[in-house]
This record gives sequence, structure tokens and C-alpha cells, in this order.
Amino acid sequence: MGASTVLGIETSCDETAAAVVRLDGAGRPEVLSSIISSQAAAHAPYGGVVPEIAARAHVEVVDVMVLRALAEAGLGFADLDAVAATAGPGLIGGVMVGLSAGKAIAMARGIPLIAVNHLEGHALSPRLAEPLAYPYLLLLVSGGHCQLLIVDGVGACERLGSTIDDAAGEAFDKIGKALGLPYPGGPALETLAEGGDAERFALPRALLGRKDCDFSFSGLKTAAARLAEGARTLQDRRDVAAAAQAAIAGQLAERTARAMGLYSRRHGGTSLRFAVAGGVAANGEVRRRLMASAREHGFSFAAPPLAYCTDNAAMIALAGAERLQAGLTSPLDAAARPRWPLDEAAAAERPTHAPGRKGAKA
Ligand code: KG4
Ligand code: ZN
Repeated sequence: MGASTVLGIETSCDETAAAVVRLDGAGRPEVLSSIISSQAAAHAPYGGVVPEIAARAHVEVVDVMVLRALAEAGLGFADLDAVAATAGPGLIGGVMVGLSAGKAIAMARGIPLIAVNHLEGHALSPRLAEPLAYPYLLLLVSGGHCQLLIVDGVGACERLGSTIDDAAGEAFDKIGKALGLPYPGGPALETLAEGGDAERFALPRALLGRKDCDFSFSGLKTAAARLAEGARTLQDRRDVAAAAQAAIAGQLAERTARAMGLYSRRHGGTSLRFAVAGGVAANGEVRRRLMASAREHGFSFAAPPLAYCTDNAAMIALAGAERLQAGLTSPLDAAARPRWPLDEAAAAERPTHAPGRKGAKA
């Protein structure tokens, strides 16, 4: 198989992103361009993403972003082998904008369309930065998602566990808000936690000792927010931030270690690979704890650079290119889906998801 050059479009939340990725015959990706237009400023006054504002903002810039991504790659529409667009899960108005743009390009140029699951994009994202062979264990941890997946290949992800209430990033953001930090609270909370005493306050340790790989952050979030309201001094606030960060990182590492045990029983004797993706992977304490779990269980550790951790279109283009090479293209009437679990079987069996800050995602 020769190289495939694919345009990716991502509009499922509050970033309008476009990228061009070339996948060579050996399955090695090269990101030719990857650009993002953030709507953060438009949503900031509301303290969260407003779906109508998001959809309108995507309409205004999606065509410009596509043209810019092609220009930065030094390519034209005629150089594309396919166009990939996020078809869900996400805020439906925005998803429809990007998917319609993808369909229009596919129809006008007579090239295949690939309707990509946003979660599959995240699941494959570690492969953008470094060679990472299938299969691997993935923790996807962002503002909208928190799940542990076995990634066997494109179109073959098995969900081992998922949050039963909030996503980890959502917990960071809400505790940050209670501490008076600007949105999104995660990065600001990490800074505040420096010099804090993580031991001073005890927070609930949810689901500890449970045999599955599910997460729960809502009890911890409420308890930390209550502590934040009672914090008087800067040191109090630092200590609450440190305790919250340690509790979230601790739960992520504990559940991941459990999944590693499960994975190694299944894949014993082979190379054990672990990767983390999503915005929360930027957190130093989270990384440290996950690296320790990986070391302890004999796993290699991969974390994509932040630009590929947070929402981007390069991961959508990569999923599209891998799908194209596997012959998995989509019809031009592919539907936009607000909910679209990656592992439909597991989701039907154990529907653990509750709608999050950014809407119903998985
Ligand atoms: O992947 P992402 O950009 O968006 C979603 O698709 O959700 O992740 C954003 C989330 C936010 O909740 C943000 O607070 C969190 O990632 N985040 C962090 C840090 N940087 C970003 N959380 C904790 N510590 C950080 N340094
Ligand atoms: Zn995402």
C-alpha cells in the first residue's frame, strides 16, 4: 500500500481544528500541518462551553481553517486521498458543521469520506508523536472523557472501565472554580498546589478496593469544593488544591494499575505498552503517578506532546488515514452522533456514562 494523505476536521467541542496527515506504506504518520482555532474567549464569560455559541463559531471559521491547513502543508485539494471528520460524540451542532464540511469536500473532489469517532482519534493520538505498536493500554483522561481502553487497532478498542459520573478534568475544573481560579481550572490548580500540603485534608477515596476499572470523581469533587469554600488563607487554598490533585492522580493511578494487571494477564509474555492521552495528561502529578504504575507493572510509558493530548485534528486525520488503509470508509449520509461509545458492546452492557460539563460525550 502506498502513502495516504488525509485532511482531518475536528469540531466536536470548542476548538475548530484542521490538519493534514500523511501515512506511509509502513503505517508511519507524518503531520504535515495541524492548526487549532480556540473559542475559549467566546465561552469564558459563561464559565463553560455554550453549545449554540460553539456551533456558530465553527461555521464562521471551518472553511478558513481547512484552507490554512492545506496551505501550511503545501498541498491542494487534488493532493488528498480522503477527508476525515469527527462525526461524534460531542456537541451535535458543532459536529454537524465539521461533518458537513467534510462531506462537501468529499463530494466535490470525488474522494472518500471517513466519519471518525472523536474517542478513536484520542485513542490513536500517541502514535502521532512516536512509534507505538498495537496493542496498548490507554488511559484517556480529559475534560469530557475518562476511560481505560485496550487499543488493538483502528476500529478495535475494548473499554475496560469508564467514569460513572464526572470526567477527571471536569473535577479539576469544578474544584478550581470553587477555589476562585479562572476556567479551565486544571492548569491553575496545578500551580496553586505547588507548596501545598497534600496530607492536611483527607478526601474520600471513591471505589477503592472495587474489582473493576471504573472511576468516580463526584464525591471527591463535592468534598474538595466544600473545603475550598472554607479556605481562608493562601496556604489553606494551596493545601486544598494539593489534596484534590493528589486524590485525583491517586485514583487514576490506582485504576490504571488494576487495568495493567488485567492486561498483562491477557498479554503475558509480550511487550507491555501503556499510553496516556487527553488534557489532564499535562498534569505533572498525574504523569508521575502513572509512570510509577507503569514501572511497577513492567509497562513502557508514552504520553503525546500536549498539542496532541488536547483536542486536535491531526488525531482525526490519523484515524481517517488508518481507516482508509483498512478499507473502512463511510457513506456520504453518515450521521452526526451526540453519543457514540467507542466500544459499543461494553457500553450497552455497562452504561456507566453520565452527561458531563461539555454535554453527553460517550
Ligand atoms: O482534552 P481537553 O483539551 O478537552 C476535552 O476534550 O475535554 O482537556 C481539557 C481538560 C480541562 O478539564 C483542563 O482543566 C484539563 O484538561 N487540564 C488539566 C491540566 N491541563 C489541562 N488538568 C490538570 N492539570 C493540568 N495541568
Ligand atoms: Zn476530546
